[in-house]
Amino acid sequence: MQRNNLPKLSLFPLTSDVDTQGHLRIGGCDTVQLAQKYGTPLYILDEFTLRHKCREFHNEFARRYPNTLVIYASKAFLNPALAVILKEEGLGLDVVSGGEMSLAQIVDFPGEKVYFHGNNKTADELKLALDWKVGRIVVDNFHELELLNKLAHSAGVKQDILLRLTPGVDPHTHHHTTTGILDSKFGFPLATGQAEMAVTRAIAAPHLHLKGFHFHLGSPIPDTPPFEIAISLVLNFASEMRGKYEFELDEFSPGGGFAVKYMVDSQVPSTADYAEAITTKVIDTANELGLTLPKLIIEPGRAIVGQAGIAVYTVGAIKEIPGVRTYICVDGGIGDNIRPTLYDAKYEALVANKVNEDEAAIVTIAGRYCESGDILARDVTVPPIAPGDIIAMPLAGAYSIPMSSNYNMVPRPAIVMVREGKARLIRQRESYQDLMRLDVI
Ligand SMILES: Cc1ncc(COP(=O)(O)O)c(C=O)c1O
Repeated sequence: MQRNNLPKLSLFPLTSDVDTQGHLRIGGCDTVQLAQKYGTPLYILDEFTLRHKCREFHNEFARRYPNTLVIYASKAFLNPALAVILKEEGLGLDVVSGGEMSLAQIVDFPGEKVYFHGNNKTADELKLALDWKVGRIVVDNFHELELLNKLAHSAGVKQDILLRLTPGVDPHTHHHTTTGILDSKFGFPLATGQAEMAVTRAIAAPHLHLKGFHFHLGSPIPDTPPFEIAISLVLNFASEMRGKYEFELDEFSPGGGFAVKYMVDSQVPSTADYAEAITTKVIDTANELGLTLPKLIIEPGRAIVGQAGIAVYTVGAIKEIPGVRTYICVDGGIGDNIRPTLYDAKYEALVANKVNEDEAAIVTIAGRYCESGDILARDVTVPPIAPGDIIAMPLAGAYSIPMSSNYNMVPRPAIVMVREGKARLIRQRESYQDLMRLDVI
């Protein structure tokens, strides 16, 4: 078997290329040199790709549907340097915790562009949101509806809200990330009449102002029909609510969940494909039902930050089991990227210091954690490989660092942002002291 690495390079950030030594370069920076300078595991974010994706989402939706706000789903990955870029690009923010809100506050993110989600927001978190005057609170259940109404009363405000609805549409993604089916902990189901009950209670709540509806089906959603089916269901419901209660749908969000290409042979819709399908369905259905076109809120997370990030590891032990498998062990794993173990997620890998060499072997990249399930990538092709080589994994920008842990008391990696040949540290590597900082003997 002899394969070259060019198809894999297309999964990496948009600025990726190979230098004369055969080293992978991102944003004009040699990833092998970055690994030497900052140590591994190292996460590298490419500023150009990030900004490009923010603009692509805004442009593809807004040129078809001008009244669109793209809000970035912070859960995919948030840190202050990233939040500044999102703010500069004019995006809003979807937050799901007091922590994400506090982070947004320290970079002076405009509160009115912040949407607060979550199926069990605490009273303290809701108070924080009210104090900060976040744009919308996306109410998920009856408990929250009542609690928020009381808290808004105490704060002397009338809070704009959306209701999160569960349309009962299966997007056929991993069951851990399927959220819009009837049997889900999120949202008010349409099918049971609870969505209608939520509308009547929200309208009757004196300290809340019901602006519209939200749904989120799951993630990643590899095709557009689930969005179209759910849009039709929710807009029909909105029309019914208008007829019964004179409710006007000012805002509507079909959530996020836009897929990215993790593997060379996977097929996913482009941002333009998603935008075309979603905006056409909203416009056509609203016109059929005689609804005024609502403001459209789009919530991409993975699709903004996924391709911008790569993870870089150093190869240590190599275990060859003749006739069975070769394990290439690296210095990261489940602690910095739990997705392969949690969701059976698949990744490709490149040897960053040997990009020009033909791939000659099929190997499994294993992590360093004490779990047999700690496998980062199975059956990937690589050139002849040795301890000390540098492995680069693409599509590491989303849902790896934010889901990271200190399992086995391993410090979390450093993160650098690269741009035009310069790298800046945006998160320091944790030290052993950091791991014990909060412990009390
Ligand atoms: C409510 C909501 N919106 C948006 C997203 C973002 O999903 P993705 O990162 O796949 O775009 C999620 C993720 O689960 C979510 O729960």
